[in-house]
Amino acid sequence: MTPEPRPPSSGRPSPADPRSPSEPSADRSSDRSSDRSSELAALLRAEIDSAPDRRITFARFMERALYEPELGYYSQPEDRPTEAGDFLTAPETHPIFGWTIARRIEALWADLGEPAPFGLIEYGAGSGTLALSILDGLRRHGSTGLLAAIRYEPVESNPNRLVDLRERFKKAGLAERLVPAGSPSDEAVPVTGVILANEFLDALPVHRVVVRGGQLLELFVTWREGFAEVPGQPSTPELARRLADDGIVPDQLAEGQVAEICLGLAPWLDDVARRLARGYVVAIDYGYEAAELYGPRRLAGTLLGYRGHRVREDPFAEVGLTDVTAHVDFTALRLLGERRGLRSVALTTQSEFLVAAGLESELQALQASPETTPQDYMRARSGIVRMLDPRHMGRFRVLTLAR
Ligand SMILES: C[S@@+](CC[C@H](N)C(=O)[O-])C[C@H]1O[C@@H](n2cnc3c(N)ncnc32)[C@H](O)[C@@H]1O
Repeated sequence: MTPEPRPPSSGRPSPADPRSPSEPSADRSSDRSSDRSSELAALLRAEIDSAPDRRITFARFMERALYEPELGYYSQPEDRPTEAGDFLTAPETHPIFGWTIARRIEALWADLGEPAPFGLIEYGAGSGTLALSILDGLRRHGSTGLLAAIRYEPVESNPNRLVDLRERFKKAGLAERLVPAGSPSDEAVPVTGVILANEFLDALPVHRVVVRGGQLLELFVTWREGFAEVPGQPSTPELARRLADDGIVPDQLAEGQVAEICLGLAPWLDDVARRLARGYVVAIDYGYEAAELYGPRRLAGTLLGYRGHRVREDPFAEVGLTDVTAHVDFTALRLLGERRGLRSVALTTQSEFLVAAGLESELQALQASPETTPQDYMRARSGIVRMLDPRHMGRFRVLTLAR
């Protein structure tokens, strides 16, 4: 596989520029971790052995690799998007990211007529770093009305992260902003507000396809003294349908081209549409429009693994200990959203989005504050460089949908 370089200082490092392992990677290779990985590999192998044709879809493999209770990558007790983890996301890089998103949310709240309560639902909330910096941003901006109106609801599959998040909200004196676990609003009571997803969609399981002899085939996972991929007839016509809906005609894909297709986008948007009565959806992630994602520059697809700030080109390596991701198809996200009554407002790069939202004013305000030390300022500046760099996080896409 010869994947395109990924952002070195962003969510995930680039294969061309792997991070030096500043973190105690030996700790993560502890016996306990490798036991967990072996146990998960054995479970997957058993599923493959008992499946017709002794193979499973890559989406099924990825689902268990990431979410298998207690064994999957996103079920682990350790927090991953940190300096000591496997990758660093924008909110973890510097809170100025969240402060700037807070500015955007203030504008959207005003646009909606300053409703109260105002729901802020975050998918893939992790331990709450983005949410806390957004609420801190509102405080910094003196947005007391919005701060009082906000009801924050994290959507997070890892119970360990939710415990961390609730603890951090309590420590920050913001526990009352949090929708209590198991409250009625967890059920189908749609909110007026904003739904956020930062580096969440790239974790949704993907199917893998390949063009062979001019035909679209699916790549399945089998076992041959290790996990291996085998081509076969697609498991579902949804795969070809998705490409067609994206405007990708069959002969547009090159012979031998490999691509990933995320069928999980539709159920995610079903959930989003069910939860949002009125307001906006802001999705930020690696990704492109379909013409670019499935174009000639990405003949090997965009699937990669990450472990200890290093790229693992073998997505089967150290299953359960390796983050597995694929770029998001923003054309599909937009079209599927529109079909659910979510109007597309803007699709921009992260750098355009942050600048338009007021990142520079945020930096100026930081500089002007008497409490800011030169080190604080330099830290914010270096974070901004990462967030805006078009070769790195700056080229992430941001899709805003409205209802
Ligand atoms: C790459 S981290 C990003 C965390 C945070 N949004 C950030 O930007 O720092 C992805 C987060 O999404 C969570 N996650 C992944 N798949 C999920 C799913 N299907 N439902 C809810 N949370 C999920 C993971 O547990 C993890 O906390």
